[in-house]
Amino acid sequence: MSLKSPLSQRPDYLVCTCMGVMYSELLEAIQAGDTTFKALSNKFGVGTGCSSCVDEVVEMLNDYAKEQDTL
Ligand code: FES
Repeated sequence: MSLKSPLSQRPDYLVCTCMGVMYSELLEAIQAGDTTFKALSNKFGVGTGCSSCVDEVVEMLNDYAKEQDTL
């Protein structure tokens, strides 16, 4: 994990309460190559409960993509 990444400097919190998935777990997976919602959903089950975390996960993916463009 890159320590310079602004994404990795955000405080950790529970993104998907249904599946108990933390921000740090998602970020680690995204940085390891799971850069689609489907990949994260398959791995952690995000979005398979109430779906209220979907926008947040998609936003993380978008922020990560933007960050990759600017690094
Ligand atoms: S909070 Fe992620 S599916 Fe409900």
